[in-house]
Amino acid sequence: GAAATAALAACDDAPAPSPAASAAASGVPRAFRWGAATSAFQVEGATAEDSRGTSIWDTFTRSPGKIRGGDNADVSADHYHRWAGDLDLARDLGLTSYRFSVAWPRIQPDGRGPANQKGLDFYKRLVGGLRERGISPVVTLYHWDLPQALQDQGGWENRDSAQWFGDYAEIVFRALGDATPTWLTINEPKTIVQLGYADGVHPPAKRDRAAAQAVMHHLNLAHGTAVRRLRAALPGQRIGPALNLSPVVHDGNADPAQVTAADIFENRRFLDPLFKGAYPSGVEAPVRDGDLALISAPNDVLAVQYYNPATLGGKKFPTSQATWEQIYPQGMYDLLVRLKRDYGDIPLMITENGAPFPDTLEGDRVHDPQRTAYIRDHIAAMKKAIAEGVNVEAYHVWSLLDNFEWTEGYGQRWGIVYVDYPTQRRILKDSALWYRDMIAGRAV
Ligand code: NOJ
Repeated sequence: GAAATAALAACDDAPAPSPAASAAASGVPRAFRWGAATSAFQVEGATAEDSRGTSIWDTFTRSPGKIRGGDNADVSADHYHRWAGDLDLARDLGLTSYRFSVAWPRIQPDGRGPANQKGLDFYKRLVGGLRERGISPVVTLYHWDLPQALQDQGGWENRDSAQWFGDYAEIVFRALGDATPTWLTINEPKTIVQLGYADGVHPPAKRDRAAAQAVMHHLNLAHGTAVRRLRAALPGQRIGPALNLSPVVHDGNADPAQVTAADIFENRRFLDPLFKGAYPSGVEAPVRDGDLALISAPNDVLAVQYYNPATLGGKKFPTSQATWEQIYPQGMYDLLVRLKRDYGDIPLMITENGAPFPDTLEGDRVHDPQRTAYIRDHIAAMKKAIAEGVNVEAYHVWSLLDNFEWTEGYGQRWGIVYVDYPTQRRILKDSALWYRDMIAGRAV
C-alpha cells in the first residue's frame, strides 16, 4: 500500500553517498547495490508451522542415506522466527539488497488452490522489514522446494507444471507486488535438471534422459508463464531468470566441438531459448507451437550466479571445500563480458557468488581468510567488467548465513555470518567484517 510505496521511494532515492561510501563505490556505478542471498528451505526451519505443506526436500531429507550426517532442515538457522534479527545484521553490514525465496508450500500447501494467508503474511513481514531497513528485496519465486503434492502429479515432468507455477507466481505477485522491485523466477534450472533428473542426487532423484529434457523445457515454459502473468497483473515491475553459468576454460588443445558442447550444456541450453528464442542445435526438447515465443518474452534483468568455470582438457584449478567449486575469479569477468557480447545489453545482477571453507568459532571470531579472498577477487573481476561497460547493478554473496547446504547438510558453511546451531547465535565471520568495511569504503 501507500506506506510500502513511500518506503520504496525513500529507499530508491537514497541520499548521495558520503565521501567514504563513494570511495567504496569506486569501480561501481552510484546506484550499485551490495547484498547477500539466502533461500527459504535452506534457512527458514519451521517446516511444520502456519500450515506449510510438505516439499520434495522434506520428503527427500527423511529418506535414509540421502543427506550427509542424516541432517534435515526442520530447524536450520531458524530464520522463520529470527528474521528480524537477521535483517538487522544485514542492515548493520551496510547491505542495500537482500535476495530470498518464497516457499511454495507455505503459499499453496498442496501446490494448487487458494493461498494460505499465514504463509503470505510471513513474506509480507519480511519485505516490510527490509523496506524499514532501507534494503531492496530481490524475490526468487522457486528455489527447489516443490510441493510434494505436485511431485505426486509428475512435478516438472508434467507440462501442466508451467500453469501451476504461473498460478502460484500470480498469488505472490499480487500479495507482495507493491513493495517488490525485482522478481526472479526459477533458481538454477540447470541444477534442477542435472542433479534431479540426470545424476539423481537431488529429488526426485531420477536418472532419465528424456525426463531431464522435458524438465528443462518445462522449467523454461514455467519461467515464461510467470513473466507473462507479471506483465498482466503488475505492469511496470521487473522480472528475470536466475541462471548459474560457467564459462568454459580449456588448455588450448581442446576439440572445438567439445568446447561448444560444454558451453551449450553449461550455458546456452537456458540462455538461448530465453534470450534468443531458440534452443541450440542438438538440444532435444518437447517443444510445441508457441512455446519459444512464451519462453523468450523479454526480461528486465538477468540474474547471474557464478561460482566456478567448466574446465576441459586437463585444465584444473584449486577448489573450495566444495569439490565441484574450482576457484577462477577471471571466469566472472569472462562470463559478464560474454553475456553482453552475445545476449545484448540487458541489466545484470550477480545473485550468488561465494564459497565454503571449514570455519571454526574461536571465542567470538571466525577467521576465514580464504572466503574473504574468494569474495574480494570475484568482486575485482566484476568491477573490471563494469569498467569495460558491462551493466551490472548488484552483487549478492552466497550466503548471508550458514545454512542447510542440500545433500551436504550443515557440514558445509557458506555464510559470511556463522550460525552456532545449538544456540542459534550469529557471529560475524572476518569475511563479513571485510565486506562491511569494503561497502563503507574502508577497505579495498
Ligand atoms: C546454488 C544454489 O542456488 C544454493 O541453493 C546453494 O546453496 C549454493 N549454490 C551453494 O551450493
